[in-house]
Amino acid sequence: MWILDERRKVNSNHGMILFEDIIGKNPGDTYITSTGTEMIIRRPSLDEFTLYMKKIAAIPHPKNNNTALCLMDVSPGDWVLECGTGSGAMTLFLSRAVGVIGRVISFDSKEDHLNRAKCNYRLWIDSWKLSHETDWPDNVTFHHADVINATDRVRHLLDGAFLDMLTPNLGLRAVLPLIKPGKVITCHIVKVFNRRGRECGADNRRHSFPGQTCHHTGFTYRVFGEAEGLLRHKT
Ligand SMILES: C[S@@+](CC[C@H](N)C(=O)[O-])C[C@H]1O[C@@H](n2cnc3c(N)ncnc32)[C@H](O)[C@@H]1O
Repeated sequence: MWILDERRKVNSNHGMILFEDIIGKNPGDTYITSTGTEMIIRRPSLDEFTLYMKKIAAIPHPKNNNTALCLMDVSPGDWVLECGTGSGAMTLFLSRAVGVIGRVISFDSKEDHLNRAKCNYRLWIDSWKLSHETDWPDNVTFHHADVINATDRVRHLLDGAFLDMLTPNLGLRAVLPLIKPGKVITCHIVKVFNRRGRECGADNRRHSFPGQTCHHTGFTYRVFGEAEGLLRHKT
C-alpha cells in the first residue's frame, strides 16, 4: 500500500499509474493507465486497509475479526479490552464497532508493536477524514503493558475482550475478573492442536476452553464471563 505522493508512480500488469494523475480525483472517478486500461478510483475499505497496511505482527484475517465481533456481540457504547494490539488491525475493527461513546482498551507489551499500531490507527483516521463528514470515533486507549497487569489499568467493567496473543491462558486469567457477568472473551489462536473442547494450544501449551466455538484459519474461542470455573481447568 502506498500513500499517494505526486512524485511517485507504480508499474502494474495493467500499465503505469502516475500518482499525480490520481490526486484530487474522487471515489468513483476513472483513470486510464499507460496501456489504456480503465480503472475505477475508490478508497480502501477497512478490511483492505488492514490487509495492506504495514505490519509488525501478524494480524488475524478480517473475516476472523468480524467473526470475533459477532461472537462478542460488540455494540455501540461497549467498553472492550484487546490484547495484544500488534499491528492494530483488530483495534480498528473494535473501534468502529463500539463507536463514539464506547472505548477500546488495548494492551501490548512491546513498544515497537504499539507504535506501529498507533501509526496505522492515525493513518486510517486521517484517511477517513478526507472522505467522511463525521469523524472516526477516536476511542482507543493504548497501554504499553503486559495484560497480566490489566487490573491496575482498567477501572471499568468491560463488555467483552479479544485476546490474540501467544499465551491466552494467562491473558484469560487476568481479564476474566474485569468482564461483566455473561459477557464474552474471544481468543484468536493459530497453530492449534485441537480436539474440540479438549486440549489446544498456541505453542503446544495446554489450554482447555469449555463453551468454545471454533473457526478455521485461526481459531476463535468463545469464553463466557460467568464460567469462572474454567480457570481451574487450565494450567
Ligand atoms: C499476533 S499479534 C496481535 C495482532 C493484532 N490482533 C492485530 O490485529 O494486529 C500478538 C501481540 O500480542 C502481544 N503480546 C503477547 N503477549 C502479551 C502480553 N502478555 N501482554 C501484552 N501484549 C502481549 C505481542 O507483543 C504482539 O504484538
